[in-house]
This record gives sequence, structure tokens and C-alpha cells, in this order.
Amino acid sequence: MTRALEGRIAVVTGAGSGFGAGIARAFADAGATVWVADVNDSAGIAVADALGGHFFHLDICDSSAVAAFAASLNHVDILVNNAGIGHTPQPAEDLPADVFNRVVDVNMRGIYHTTAAFVPGMKTRRRGVIVNIASTAGVRPRGGLTWYNASKGWVITATKSLAAELAPFGIRVNAINPVAGETPLLATFMGGDTSANRERFLATIPLGRFCTPEDVGAAACYLASDGASMVTGVALEVDGGRVL
Ligand SMILES: NC(=O)c1ccc[n+]([C@@H]2O[C@H](COP(=O)([O-])OP(=O)(O)OC[C@H]3O[C@@H](n4cnc5c(N)ncnc54)[C@H](O)[C@@H]3O)[C@@H](O)[C@H]2O)c1
Repeated sequence: MTRALEGRIAVVTGAGSGFGAGIARAFADAGATVWVADVNDSAGIAVADALGGHFFHLDICDSSAVAAFAASLNHVDILVNNAGIGHTPQPAEDLPADVFNRVVDVNMRGIYHTTAAFVPGMKTRRRGVIVNIASTAGVRPRGGLTWYNASKGWVITATKSLAAELAPFGIRVNAINPVAGETPLLATFMGGDTSANRERFLATIPLGRFCTPEDVGAAACYLASDGASMVTGVALEVDGGRVL
């Protein structure tokens, strides 16, 4: 896609690594001005510098910080809620409460905070695009990851509900469901990055490879572009056929 986002201002949370970095790179290539918003300063600055974008230190769990970030920007055309965390596979009843609470804080409450901070400006301008990074975990869960899977199911439902609610304001809201991806999170989901675990996961992906940041970046670019102007409320699988 060439220059499909020329002149657009985009915020990508968690863009210091993995899928978020791939989305930020794709957006910059398509002509957008990109804000890399991440809690990890060194990683976020490196990504922002490499693509000629901007870095903002942001913890999406901190509602005041998210509000201050939104207020500091003139306007935002595209918001990507990408920042998220996982937990290691274990019986649902064993996941410690502090880990569960952290998953809820980052994967769910963070999107609540960015919605509160960025949607009013989009409503005023009567335009905007939101892309939420959910997961195939939200529609085809693997055992051992129950609370992570449930958080991604919540993201998909929130996406569809926001799409219905915000359509009259000219705001589109979509999600992307990546399958297991080549990012630092992969080892967490697999319970260790071993060749046996890789083979076990790859056996469940018909196209026979993991998702890459480039795959997710291309999908986000499409959903953010005017080419998707009739597309809202979808959760687009980028999964090599995993949910078939
Ligand atoms: N990797 C996979 O297998 C996979 C599969 C499906 C969906 N996902 C989802 O994709 C998204 C990105 O995952 P990834 O694999 O690229 O992870 P990653 O760990 O490579 O990157 C996540 C980034 O988010 C940042 N972050 C974490 N907490 C934050 C916070 N509170 N505020 C701001 N930034 C924060 C981290 O610093 C990091 O830069 C997540 O929502 C994840 O659930 C990942």
C-alpha cells in the first residue's frame, strides 16, 4: 500500500516492540506521522527514531497520563490499541491474583482509558479510526491461557460495541486477531521458546508459520486507510488459517 495514510496522525500503543513496531513502521511507510507510545523508553525511542516518528512515554494503565498525552496532541486520526501482556500457560485456578490483575489492567483497562481520552476529539471532528489488537485467543482459545484469552474476547466485544456506538460519528472501530507471532511475547505463550513448543504451535496453523509484525502492520494499514471506509466492527484474522 503506497502513501495510503499520507497526512494522518497516528498513535500506536506498545509500539516499542513486536506487532506494535511493525504497525508503526507500516504506518510511517504509508505516509502517516506516527507517535510511538510505550512504557519502555529505550525500545520506544529506537523505533520512533528509525521511522522518523515521535516517542511518548506512556503507561496506558495510568488514566491521567493517557489523558495528558491526548490533550498534548492537536488531533489524532488513527488510534491503535496494541499494548498488551500475556501470562504463562497454567491451570486457570492457579494464576496468581496479581498477574490476573495486571492482565486486566493492561489488556482491558488500558483500552478504557484511551477510549476516554481520544474518542471525544474524534467525535468533535466526526472522523477517526481505531484498531484494537485482539487475538485468535479470543475466538479459538488454547487451554492454559484462560485469563489472557478472556481479555482478548473482551477486546473483540468492546470493538464491535464501539463500532456500533461510534459509527454515527464517522468513527470506524476494528480489531485484528493475530495468531501466535514472532515477538518477545511468544515464549511466554508457549511456556518457553523450545523447538518442541514451536512445532506444537505451528502444527495448529495451516499456513505453517508464525505471524510477523509485517503481517499485522499490513492489516492495520488497510483497516486504517480509506480503502476500508465501509469496514467497521470486524475482527480480522491474520492467522494463517488457525481459526478455520
Ligand atoms: N505475540 C503473539 O503471539 C500475539 C498473538 C496475538 C495477539 N498478540 C497481541 O499483540 C499485542 C502486541 O504483542 P507483542 O507480541 O508485540 O508484544 P511485545 O511484548 O513484543 O510488545 C508489547 C509492547 O507493549 C508495551 N507495553 C506493555 N505494557 C504497557 C503499558 N502498560 N503501557 C504502554 N506500553 C506497554 C511493551 O513495553 C512492549 O513494547 C498484544 O496486545 C498481544 O496481546 C500477540
